[in-house]
Amino acid sequence: MRNVTKDNITDVFASYFGEDTDPRVREVLVALARHIHDFAREVNLTHDEWRKGLEMLEHAGRITTPERNEFVLFSDVLGLSSLVDMMHSKPEATSSSVLGPFHVSNPPPLAIGGDMKRDFGGPVLLVDGQVRDVDGTPIGGATLDIWQTAPNGMYSSQDPDQDIHSFHGLMTTDNEGRFAFTTVRPVEYTVPADGPVGELLNAAGRHPWRPSHLHYICSAEGYRSLVTEVFPDDDPYLDQDTVFGVRDDLVMKYVEQPADSFPEGFELSGKVDEPYLKVTFDLILAKG
Ligand code: BEZ
Ligand code: FE
Repeated sequence: MRNVTKDNITDVFASYFGEDTDPRVREVLVALARHIHDFAREVNLTHDEWRKGLEMLEHAGRITTPERNEFVLFSDVLGLSSLVDMMHSKPEATSSSVLGPFHVSNPPPLAIGGDMKRDFGGPVLLVDGQVRDVDGTPIGGATLDIWQTAPNGMYSSQDPDQDIHSFHGLMTTDNEGRFAFTTVRPVEYTVPADGPVGELLNAAGRHPWRPSHLHYICSAEGYRSLVTEVFPDDDPYLDQDTVFGVRDDLVMKYVEQPADSFPEGFELSGKVDEPYLKVTFDLILAKG
């Protein structure tokens, strides 16, 4: 096509595909081009704005490392990660939520009743719950990969003062699908805002805060793995999570308990002499 115009360029783009192109590739790329072209026409995108966008992507490429992926962060703060999550989560199962970039592979085993707090200061949080299928049948032998920030708001991979496995643990549920551990009450924290994503947030008058949360990946044979988070119901950022990860069924109450009610069977049993917090979070998995 020689006579490409601003009105026919999307059709011309679609006409350039090879005959043997995978139909799904064609569908996705044609739709992507259509939306990009419509976007440029809708906002009457200027050369300066187009260049600025490309500069931000180029900056993202320069600072992206295996530990920090600025492109994923763009997807997170634009709501794309959460949208894709929600489009594919099963309504009968616990909602999924963003994975984020701070999960580490090979987390250390954490026995039922084990402690992730170690020597860190801050309020003790006892977490327990049960993994079940959508019919209410407990799922024994499910694995729970659990992680959170230290009380300074940093994940182990961001913080040279932490061991890479600090505040990470891998637990297996008992025959009744139950799990339980202690940790420190998670704190709210900011997503990395010193790169182009921070620039975007700034330009939009947005803050970089996430409400405090615990991350889980729950897996069991024959079930869909669930990537999710649990949030306390009194967090100030619940209604403005900068990565759009909060869902109603993931918001739980952290209930204060007297020190003398701390149960037996935990690594910290007999060692808790101040009121502690307790949250129960059950996870429902859909069949795989
Ligand atoms: C997180 O919760 O760890 C996270 C999620 C998205 C972006 C940055 C961090
Ligand atoms: Fe997180």
